[in-house]
Amino acid sequence: MNSARKNLAVLASGTGSNFRAIAAACRGDDFPARVVCLITDNPEAGAITIAEEYGIAVFTVTPGKKRGHLPEASEQEIVSICRRHQVDLITLAGFMRIIKAPLLDAFPGRILNIHPSLLPSFKGLHAQKQAFDYGVKVAGCSVHFVDSSVDGGSIIIQSAVPVREDDDADSLAARILEQEHRIYPEAIKLFATGRLRIENRRTTILD
Ligand code: GRF
Repeated sequence: MNSARKNLAVLASGTGSNFRAIAAACRGDDFPARVVCLITDNPEAGAITIAEEYGIAVFTVTPGKKRGHLPEASEQEIVSICRRHQVDLITLAGFMRIIKAPLLDAFPGRILNIHPSLLPSFKGLHAQKQAFDYGVKVAGCSVHFVDSSVDGGSIIIQSAVPVREDDDADSLAARILEQEHRIYPEAIKLFATGRLRIENRRTTILD
């Protein structure tokens, strides 16, 4: 199975718990992908320590001054790192920068993201708190393809998380995160085994 594994790059800016879930899944004998590199815009990211633990190569790109954005040169650098590593799939795991043309054009239909809400509700930052403050009864998370919109690409998997009477935004976020760790590897597996088809923005899972 090893030689057939797809090469995965993970982009993360923070703690890296989703990165850990992905790296752990990739250790499985039958998992159809392996992480070939971690790319971060944050030299302090917890994800870096996780990469070291798993023996995964780390690349840090210059974040630039504009919050939420990457300088074009940094995006080009990500493209060349991914090409050098023959990356098949890029997964954003808490990457706090909007992805633009250089990367989208180089890897069309091959970039995934995880978002902590049931999209299309509560796009953007602090989605769990947005959902909690709105008063929803069911929150959740979504894995989706990345396109030029923010949190707007085709949805692959969602997981619903009921809001409890005694929840606050943090306890709700913690339960959502558990589901993120479950569905992200699952979505990667579907992609890596060629089981996803998109038609009219609707993703179908093939048998
Ligand atoms: C997660 O909630 C993810 O959905 C969002 O950013 C957070 C990253 O957490 N995009 P972690 O760094 O994976 O722990």
